[in-house]
Amino acid sequence: MQQLVTALNQLQADYQVYYQKLRAFHWNVQGPLFFALHAKFEDLYTGFAVKVDDLAERALTLGGRPLPTLAAVLKTARLKEATSMPDAAGMVEALVEDLEQLNAWTREVVAQAEAKGDAATVNLLDGFADGQEKDGWMLRSFLQG
Ligand SMILES: [Fe+2]
Repeated sequence: MQQLVTALNQLQADYQVYYQKLRAFHWNVQGPLFFALHAKFEDLYTGFAVKVDDLAERALTLGGRPLPTLAAVLKTARLKEATSMPDAAGMVEALVEDLEQLNAWTREVVAQAEAKGDAATVNLLDGFADGQEKDGWMLRSFLQG
């Protein structure tokens, strides 16, 4: 199960970077779309806080350890932090792009978990990716305006 724990740690790192990006966008979004996006970003980061916790606790359940520090998170994460704040549409575009990447990585770990017969990890991560596909559709719809 060590390989799966490593994969779960990797996802924890990427999900934590995404969580922080959502928080930063929640704080920094400006303009006529402020109220809608400020609230939507909070809704999303609240969900990602739970998912980070689930990833950490799944690693523990498999006998491993979660990443304990932000330094470890940043060293491990593949997703890039937001180093500057785009405009409102740019924020949504960045979130869509990252979400597609997160979904691809998440489904990769689903395949690994399936190969190991780890149904609980499959169920957990499929649930994440299924919900995030819907989030992606909503964010892309927002950009169609
Ligand atoms: Fe807030």
